[in-house]
Amino acid sequence: MREPMPKNPVNDGVRLRPMVAADLLAAHTLSDELRWPHRLADWEQAFAHARGVVAERDGEIVGTALCWPRGEHHATIGLVIVRPAYQGQRIGQRLMSALLDQLQDRVVLLHATAEGRGLYERLGFARIGELRQHQGIAAPAPLVALQPLWRLRPAGASDADALKQLDRQARGMPRDALIDQLLATAQACVVLDHDAQPRGFGILRRFGRGHVIGPVVAPDMEGAKALIAHLVGMNAGHFTRIDIDADSGLAEWLEGLGLPRVDAPTTMLRGAALEAPVDAPRLFAIVTQAIG
Ligand SMILES: CC(C)(COP(=O)(O)OP(=O)(O)OC[C@H]1O[C@@H](n2cnc3c(N)ncnc32)[C@H](O)[C@@H]1OP(=O)(O)O)[C@@H](O)C(=O)NCCC(=O)NCCS
Repeated sequence: MREPMPKNPVNDGVRLRPMVAADLLAAHTLSDELRWPHRLADWEQAFAHARGVVAERDGEIVGTALCWPRGEHHATIGLVIVRPAYQGQRIGQRLMSALLDQLQDRVVLLHATAEGRGLYERLGFARIGELRQHQGIAAPAPLVALQPLWRLRPAGASDADALKQLDRQARGMPRDALIDQLLATAQACVVLDHDAQPRGFGILRRFGRGHVIGPVVAPDMEGAKALIAHLVGMNAGHFTRIDIDADSGLAEWLEGLGLPRVDAPTTMLRGAALEAPVDAPRLFAIVTQAIG
């Protein structure tokens, strides 16, 4: 049985301060302790456009929480971690409150583990959906046939603006710096054209135990399958992860590609619903659970 948690743990020696790059090694040790797959390079990439807060006790980092402001009105929160020995002392709540104070009235999106969900609900987040995390050794993927006028091609430098716009419409918030960062570091970016106009794209990149496919933005499921099959095929025989929207209709198909489901986090939002134009493309796979 858990010990009862003090209502207001005061003077417990825990101090919050802004996270700095020099904290990344300790933050990585923290995620290792939870057996999260992040490499130090994944923390560095996540921190590049983030604001973070750490909880320290006796000079040791015992908690982290990061946020990514997007445009003027949105943000995502992730990498919320409290060292197991320190959990249940409202450190998670203090870290989250510090970030939410900075974000003021921005609409905030996050993906919650089962452990985090209660904390986020108490802070005003509501469930808006679910993810399905699929991963495994990718099998060679049969190519998905496209209708006339549709084709796949590698992205070029001149595509960046179009891909940012597709991502913005699909995610419901602008993420230009993130897309630039992903394009600069990705192993592959494939564009889905219709009549020579970009209508979707997918990215394959190094992350965690192997490679991740995401984001995947497409107008429909067939387009998403064509993009994913191409990227899975490039990574056949290697560890591949993809975090899809639970309503995407892709789960069973991914299992057939050697990528079984391993987790099902909850998508949560604080504030007004994310807006998308009627004919907006869809975000079939996210970037990471932290970043959204
Ligand atoms: C989720 C997490 C960050 C919460 O941090 P925390 O400091 O433990 O959070 P708080 O103390 O503010 O509150 C958390 C819960 O602990 C419960 N609790 C009470 N007494 C407790 C005790 N003695 N020990 C552990 N938990 C206790 C609280 O009731 C609350 O439960 P609820 O959320 O189910 O209602 C932390 O559990 C964690 O790092 N988990 C692993 C990583 C993770 O899943 N992160 C979330 C990513 S979205």
